[in-house]
Amino acid sequence: MEPIAHLVKVSVPNYLSNLPIPDSIGGWFQLGVKDWFSLIPPTAVLVGIGYMSYLSFCPKARKGNCKRVNSKIKLLNNKVVDVLDIENITENVAFCRCWKTKNWPYCDGSHAGHNSKCNDNLGPLVINKKN
Ligand code: FES
Repeated sequence: MEPIAHLVKVSVPNYLSNLPIPDSIGGWFQLGVKDWFSLIPPTAVLVGIGYMSYLSFCPKARKGNCKRVNSKIKLLNNKVVDVLDIENITENVAFCRCWKTKNWPYCDGSHAGHNSKCNDNLGPLVINKKN
Protein backbone atom coordinates (compact mmCIF):
# COMPACT_ATOMS: atom_id res chain seq x y z
CA MET A 1 0.00 0.00 0.00
CA GLU A 2 2.87 2.33 0.72
CA PRO A 3 4.04 2.56 -2.94
CA ILE A 4 0.53 3.55 -4.01
CA ALA A 5 0.25 6.12 -1.24
CA HIS A 6 3.62 7.56 -2.23
CA LEU A 7 2.54 7.70 -5.85
CA VAL A 8 -0.70 9.51 -5.04
CA LYS A 9 0.62 11.81 -2.32
CA VAL A 10 4.12 12.63 -3.56
CA SER A 11 5.06 11.50 -7.07
CA VAL A 12 2.00 12.63 -9.01
CA PRO A 13 1.67 16.00 -7.23
CA ASN A 14 5.40 16.67 -7.76
CA TYR A 15 5.09 15.74 -11.42
CA LEU A 16 2.05 17.94 -11.93
CA SER A 17 3.55 20.90 -10.07
CA ASN A 18 6.63 20.74 -12.31
CA LEU A 19 4.64 20.92 -15.53
CA PRO A 20 5.22 24.18 -17.41
CA ILE A 21 1.62 25.38 -17.25
CA PRO A 22 1.59 29.18 -17.59
CA ASP A 23 -0.42 31.49 -15.33
CA SER A 24 -1.88 33.49 -18.21
CA ILE A 25 -3.09 32.89 -21.73
CA GLY A 26 -0.16 34.84 -23.11
CA GLY A 27 2.17 32.48 -21.28
CA TRP A 28 1.21 29.65 -23.63
CA PHE A 29 2.89 31.55 -26.48
CA GLN A 30 6.12 31.81 -24.52
CA LEU A 31 6.52 28.07 -23.97
CA GLY A 32 9.52 26.46 -25.62
CA VAL A 33 9.65 23.24 -27.60
CA LYS A 34 10.87 21.31 -24.56
CA ASP A 35 7.91 22.65 -22.53
CA TRP A 36 5.41 21.57 -25.18
CA PHE A 37 6.94 18.10 -25.31
CA SER A 38 6.69 17.78 -21.53
CA LEU A 39 2.94 18.53 -21.82
CA ILE A 40 2.30 15.68 -24.27
CA PRO A 41 2.10 12.78 -21.74
CA PRO A 42 -0.39 14.42 -19.33
CA THR A 43 -2.43 15.68 -22.30
CA ALA A 44 -2.54 12.14 -23.73
CA VAL A 45 -3.69 10.79 -20.36
CA LEU A 46 -6.45 13.43 -20.14
CA VAL A 47 -7.60 12.74 -23.70
CA GLY A 48 -7.60 8.99 -22.95
CA ILE A 49 -9.66 9.45 -19.80
CA GLY A 50 -12.06 11.71 -21.68
CA TYR A 51 -12.43 9.22 -24.52
CA MET A 52 -12.96 6.27 -22.16
CA SER A 53 -15.59 8.32 -20.31
CA TYR A 54 -17.26 9.16 -23.58
CA LEU A 55 -17.39 5.46 -24.52
CA SER A 56 -18.70 4.55 -21.07
CA PHE A 57 -21.44 7.14 -20.78
CA CYS A 58 -22.53 7.78 -24.35
CA PRO A 59 -24.69 4.90 -25.68
CA LYS A 60 -24.32 6.06 -29.29
CA ALA A 61 -20.54 5.78 -29.07
CA ARG A 62 -20.74 2.15 -27.94
CA LYS A 63 -22.91 1.19 -30.90
CA GLY A 64 -20.14 2.41 -33.26
CA ASN A 65 -19.65 -0.66 -35.44
CA CYS A 66 -22.75 -2.49 -34.27
CA LYS A 67 -25.21 -2.74 -37.13
CA ARG A 68 -28.24 -5.01 -37.25
CA VAL A 69 -27.74 -7.94 -39.65
CA ASN A 70 -31.22 -9.47 -39.71
CA SER A 71 -33.72 -7.04 -41.18
CA LYS A 72 -36.52 -9.39 -42.24
CA ILE A 73 -36.45 -12.96 -40.85
CA LYS A 74 -38.64 -13.76 -37.81
CA LEU A 75 -38.20 -10.28 -36.42
CA LEU A 76 -40.59 -10.89 -33.53
CA ASN A 77 -38.37 -13.68 -32.13
CA ASN A 78 -35.63 -12.84 -29.64
CA LYS A 79 -33.37 -15.32 -31.38
CA VAL A 80 -33.75 -17.12 -34.70
CA VAL A 81 -33.02 -20.81 -34.25
CA ASP A 82 -33.86 -23.49 -36.80
CA VAL A 83 -33.38 -27.21 -36.26
CA LEU A 84 -33.25 -29.78 -39.03
CA ASP A 85 -32.45 -33.45 -38.53
CA ILE A 86 -29.69 -34.46 -40.89
CA GLU A 87 -31.52 -37.71 -41.61
CA ASN A 88 -34.37 -35.71 -43.12
CA ILE A 89 -32.14 -34.21 -45.79
CA THR A 90 -32.98 -36.08 -48.97
CA GLU A 91 -31.11 -33.92 -51.44
CA ASN A 92 -28.23 -31.44 -51.50
CA VAL A 93 -29.32 -28.31 -49.70
CA ALA A 94 -27.85 -24.81 -49.23
CA PHE A 95 -28.58 -22.92 -46.02
CA CYS A 96 -28.50 -19.15 -45.99
CA ARG A 97 -25.78 -17.48 -43.93
CA CYS A 98 -26.29 -13.94 -45.21
CA TRP A 99 -29.80 -13.28 -43.83
CA LYS A 100 -30.92 -11.88 -47.18
CA THR A 101 -32.92 -14.87 -48.44
CA LYS A 102 -36.67 -14.79 -49.02
CA ASN A 103 -36.84 -18.54 -48.37
CA TRP A 104 -35.40 -18.90 -44.85
CA PRO A 105 -33.47 -20.99 -43.86
CA TYR A 106 -32.54 -21.90 -47.42
CA CYS A 107 -30.31 -19.91 -49.74
CA ASP A 108 -32.14 -18.37 -52.67
CA GLY A 109 -29.10 -16.65 -54.19
CA SER A 110 -29.83 -13.25 -52.64
CA HIS A 111 -26.28 -13.17 -51.28
CA ALA A 112 -25.02 -12.54 -54.83
CA GLY A 113 -26.77 -9.16 -55.02
CA HIS A 114 -25.42 -8.17 -51.64
CA ASN A 115 -21.90 -9.30 -52.60
CA SER A 116 -21.79 -7.28 -55.79
CA LYS A 117 -23.35 -4.22 -54.13
CA CYS A 118 -21.15 -4.29 -51.02
CA ASN A 119 -18.01 -5.96 -52.39
CA ASP A 120 -18.58 -8.76 -49.87
CA ASN A 121 -18.05 -12.52 -50.04
CA LEU A 122 -21.05 -14.04 -48.26
CA GLY A 123 -22.35 -17.45 -49.27
CA PRO A 124 -24.43 -20.40 -48.08
CA LEU A 125 -23.61 -23.49 -46.06
CA VAL A 126 -24.07 -26.37 -48.50
CA ILE A 127 -24.90 -29.83 -47.14
CA ASN A 128 -24.42 -32.58 -49.67
CA LYS A 129 -26.59 -35.67 -49.38
CA LYS A 130 -24.53 -38.75 -48.67
CA ASN A 131 -24.74 -41.21 -51.56
S1 FES B 1 -29.22 -16.08 -49.85
FE1 FES B 1 -28.14 -16.05 -48.01
S2 FES B 1 -26.44 -17.26 -48.38
FE2 FES B 1 -27.51 -17.30 -50.20
